[in-house]
Amino acid sequence: MNVALIGYGKVAKALARLLAAERARFPFRIVAVQTRRGTAIDPAGVGEAPDFGPPLPDLGEFYRRAGADAVVELTPLNPVDGEPAIHHIRTAFAHGLHAITANKGPVAHAYAGLRREALAAGVQFRFEAAVMAGVPVFHMVRTGLPGCAILGFSAVLDSTTTVVLEAMEAGLSLEEAVAKARTLGIVESDASFDLDGWDAAAKSAALANVLMDANVTPQKVDAKGIRRLTPEKLADLKSKGKTVRLVSRAHRGKDGVKLRVRAEVLDRDDALANVRGTGNLLLLETERLGTLGLMASSLGPAETAYGLFSDLVDVSRYLPPKQ
Ligand SMILES: NC(=O)c1ccc[n+]([C@@H]2O[C@H](COP(=O)([O-])OP(=O)(O)OC[C@H]3O[C@@H](n4cnc5c(N)ncnc54)[C@H](OP(=O)(O)O)[C@@H]3O)[C@@H](O)[C@H]2O)c1
Repeated sequence: MNVALIGYGKVAKALARLLAAERARFPFRIVAVQTRRGTAIDPAGVGEAPDFGPPLPDLGEFYRRAGADAVVELTPLNPVDGEPAIHHIRTAFAHGLHAITANKGPVAHAYAGLRREALAAGVQFRFEAAVMAGVPVFHMVRTGLPGCAILGFSAVLDSTTTVVLEAMEAGLSLEEAVAKARTLGIVESDASFDLDGWDAAAKSAALANVLMDANVTPQKVDAKGIRRLTPEKLADLKSKGKTVRLVSRAHRGKDGVKLRVRAEVLDRDDALANVRGTGNLLLLETERLGTLGLMASSLGPAETAYGLFSDLVDVSRYLPPKQ
């Protein structure tokens, strides 16, 4: 399968490494890459260090020349309206290309419409890596829970805030804590998206749209971030056996799905308090199985790349057989 990438940052580079390592078993080849600064196209494969020329100004032209079967969209999150990633994906469908993304913006802002458009174009739209990196949240619910409604969820989904809160609890300033998180490659291009709760709001909206047919946007999430917390306040809570995590909660009410993101004070024995570092925890309230949890100990670009890889494997089953 030939793959085109939009964006060549931390996650895209991790994906390129993973595809190179798995090439003997999974014959996927990156044949084209488009970033703001440059374009690289090579039908034989662009390699892990693509030779970028000037950027092709027209995305349709890029897709026409790429010779790809699928596009992997890896531009930064825009929590306000999900653009230009939505446009990148929509244009891929219009060119008969499957689209895969780790960007939660399109799923948080335009899931229902993009799903309809993919169906109409006869292509697949996949986004496993958009929430909890490679943890198969969407796949598990889609294939493992037929006829079992998701009634709500509680979760710690934003690793940056956990890393920052832990560092501040240990006495670092907010700025020092963010610098520490940056070294792990997990901070959004604009760190305020993490600190002000936008990343968690976008992930919550994406989960609710896909798992609960919520039809919401991140703006509908009642979200507050972690900026009001200080190292002193966190140390004081710690001395009382408590800690703070940025918690996402969803439940279905009379007027639809309600979503909330808050820095919550938690007892140390609360499952959500036990999420450490770049770990994530999602507790789904289900119709038939009660509370069902998915926990990951450490998520970053490599694990996100695995989520994209799992989608590529899934999508490759939809390619026409080779003549
Ligand atoms: N990092 C993680 O652990 C992680 C985990 C889960 C999900 N994600 C999501 O994965 C996506 C990529 O994350 P990342 O960490 O790889 O980001 P990143 O390192 O900041 O890289 C972003 C890339 O997107 C390119 N880009 C920006 N605007 C573009 C545009 N309009 N057209 C084409 N290319 C554009 C940039 O190219 P230029 O340099 O030329 O501007 C850069 O190559 C984000 O949506 C993020 O939320 C990341």
